[in-house]
Amino acid sequence: MIYLDNAATTLRKPEAVIEAVADAMKNMGNSGRGSGSTSLRASRVIYEARRTLTEFFGGTDPSRLVFTSNSTEGLNMAIRGIFVPGDHVITTELEHNSVLRPLYGEQEQNGISLTIVKSGKQGTVDYEGIEAAIRPETRAVICTHASNLTGNVVDLYRMGQIAKRNGLLFVVDASQTAGVLPIDIERMQIDVLCFTGHKSLMGPQGTGGLYVREEVEIRPFKSGGTGVHSFLKKQPDDYPEHLEAGTLNGHGIAGLLAAVREIQNIGLSAIYEKEHRFMQQFYDGVREIPGIKIYGDFSDPAAVRCPVVSLNIGDMDASEVSDWLQEEFGIITRAGAHCAPLMHQYFQTEKQGMVRFSFSYYNKEEEVLAAVRGVKNIAAAQQ
Ligand code: ALA
Repeated sequence: MIYLDNAATTLRKPEAVIEAVADAMKNMGNSGRGSGSTSLRASRVIYEARRTLTEFFGGTDPSRLVFTSNSTEGLNMAIRGIFVPGDHVITTELEHNSVLRPLYGEQEQNGISLTIVKSGKQGTVDYEGIEAAIRPETRAVICTHASNLTGNVVDLYRMGQIAKRNGLLFVVDASQTAGVLPIDIERMQIDVLCFTGHKSLMGPQGTGGLYVREEVEIRPFKSGGTGVHSFLKKQPDDYPEHLEAGTLNGHGIAGLLAAVREIQNIGLSAIYEKEHRFMQQFYDGVREIPGIKIYGDFSDPAAVRCPVVSLNIGDMDASEVSDWLQEEFGIITRAGAHCAPLMHQYFQTEKQGMVRFSFSYYNKEEEVLAAVRGVKNIAAAQQ
């Protein structure tokens, strides 16, 4: 099998991650609950994970790193917990439903207004459009760091500057970039960063979190046991407990810690360089095939991109191409609508969908070349 669906989840995890999860499952108690050695061991691992991730993302205070089960949960906590009626929020057409649906919910149920800024060429962000959409009641800009569909990257430095120049909160969905591209909360002026552990961070599913800058207030999404302030009737104000209730996924967090350490050992730039090379090699291999349509901005080979290539072959249904790739060539891709409805509308692929090839550090060049051959074969059969 050749696995090229790494933007959905990385299948191959570092051995150290598997070992850390197994070790935690054998030895880890419940963090913050009691003072037994097993509980303390859990607290130490979880604190170390908060510290390591805070440093990895350029944050300053590990207590503001809150664990969640994925980016979607973090994005829901931020989007549903910050705004009040009358607030205006700006976002982009690149967004995943994990941003769009909570925003639509706030619009309908909490009286916020929303501007979704139209994209520039090939589904890129129109920064001038973002700036032009700002009104006196605008509270925040919320955007993804990269489209899960096209791999187009948003310049977070530029977006952070726009947000701060205009006194806005800046909320970022780093689902597709954490573990591939450098993220620097301080220098990018990010107020809330939401990330998932199971994609390019190469950790277990069910892990993720959000980093919340100190001045930002988020109403708790859930309340319950925290192991501290047990007689308080409300969720404590202190972080991380303010946004964490109930037993954490300590086993998964132990794996996520091992994953981030592995990324630090390999080096983020080495990971990016290899994945970008695979992406470019695949793109160069398929771009001239008759009938191929590729989506996203590939105009500058040196530009920063996520390691994703989405395409269609003539008018073939994307799911049919994806099934064919799997059955004939053992290549796993993702087809269909990819939870990014506005990007599909932009490219007019609502019905056809797209076939997405996404690469990981652990792929091999032969696999990339086999995928090129697979696409060529299917395209040739259509001529
Ligand atoms: N959001 C994930 C993807 O893009 C699941 O496939």
